[in-house]
Amino acid sequence: MRENELKNILMEKGQEHIWEAYQKLDDAGKEKLAAQIERVDWSMVAMAGHEELAQERGKLEPLSALEVSAINENKEKYEKIGLDAIRAGKVGAVLLAGGQGTRLGSDGPKGKYNIGLTKDVYIFERLIRNLQDVTDKAGCYVPLYIMTSDKNHEETVAFFEEKNYFGYPKEHVMFFQQEMAPSTDFDGKLLMEEKDSLSLSPNGNGGWFYSMAVTGVVKDVHARGIEWLNIFAVDNVLQRIADPVFVGATLDSGRVSGAKVVRKADPHEKVGVLCLEDGKPSIVEYYEMTDEIINSREANGDLSYNFGVILNYLFRVDKLEEIMDAKMPVHVVEKKIPYMDAEGNYYKPETPNGYKFELLVLDMIHLLDNCLSFEVVRNYEFAPIKNKTGVDSVESAQALLKENGVEL
Ligand code: UTP
Repeated sequence: MRENELKNILMEKGQEHIWEAYQKLDDAGKEKLAAQIERVDWSMVAMAGHEELAQERGKLEPLSALEVSAINENKEKYEKIGLDAIRAGKVGAVLLAGGQGTRLGSDGPKGKYNIGLTKDVYIFERLIRNLQDVTDKAGCYVPLYIMTSDKNHEETVAFFEEKNYFGYPKEHVMFFQQEMAPSTDFDGKLLMEEKDSLSLSPNGNGGWFYSMAVTGVVKDVHARGIEWLNIFAVDNVLQRIADPVFVGATLDSGRVSGAKVVRKADPHEKVGVLCLEDGKPSIVEYYEMTDEIINSREANGDLSYNFGVILNYLFRVDKLEEIMDAKMPVHVVEKKIPYMDAEGNYYKPETPNGYKFELLVLDMIHLLDNCLSFEVVRNYEFAPIKNKTGVDSVESAQALLKENGVEL
């Protein structure tokens, strides 16, 4: 981009301070900052302070789940279908590990966190062990794609190298980096983190397939003949990955996606609920639902909106390709964002000082025609680590791991 174009864009978007900063830089600094500005998605930045532009919800209706009792009745059949697909090389797994794990408050990749009590047990290690349960049974490996971000890529790769991929064959593990998004103050002005750099952070977990495509990793998916991708979060240490029963049930259902869900602990539990919105699958947050919807019940007394998602989805690759360029809603989140002011002073705010912009994977579901809601037992499959203590914490996950016979 030529300098005058850069200037015009910055002026037009109300970012004069960035132009001021740019002019003070040497050639290398100018090049770096200009490259970042070129990648800014201005439609995202325009959302600053405009939460009201967030999509209105359509007509919500319950979506029934394949419940544990029904799954158990057909478990052998589903498992066989799933194992056959895995053995035929049709299933890959995608670990979403680009987040910053700010709530856990540890620097570096969350997967490096050691949750062991008497020995070292790293989150990444636990996930690999869970995957190995399946690959041992299948007698073959499942390709594992790991999404990182600019903030943690090198450290993540170095950690896997240092730990020898926890015994998983390196040729079946591929890393790719997600896109970064800028942050703004409450007036929509881009924040800077260095003299020659915008304040950039990972753009949420919703752009994972787009990032697989732009980084070229998707070529590997095709070269291997993978037809289904199972994506999952880094922080659920009881995560079942490429679970043959889940894969088999989704294939058997003829649907193009599947989502693992858990029964809500109570009507007001703060989870995203899988339901139908205008006839298409959708995940609706608890705060987007009226009390009437939250409390509505089916004839058998069960809550109509009874199943919360746990960030474990299965997607058909050809469908992902169809929706890859679709516009996804931008989530505007108030955050504490470290920044540098025009005089070069650094600040680390104690309270939120601006917005970050994120795409979320749950919005992908609504772009698809259908989704199998697949119930799993919470205490066997859901131990998320978001915080150090309390709810969804290192402590609660350690207790659940022990309950499931994992030595820590
Ligand atoms: P979370 O929503 O828990 O975000 O991510 P986080 O960044 O890990 O943690 P906090 O909110 O800062 O404490 C859910 C999953 O999505 C991944 C995370 O790594 C985690 O597996 N994720 C999140 C990404 O891969 N990229 C992102 O930009 C955000």
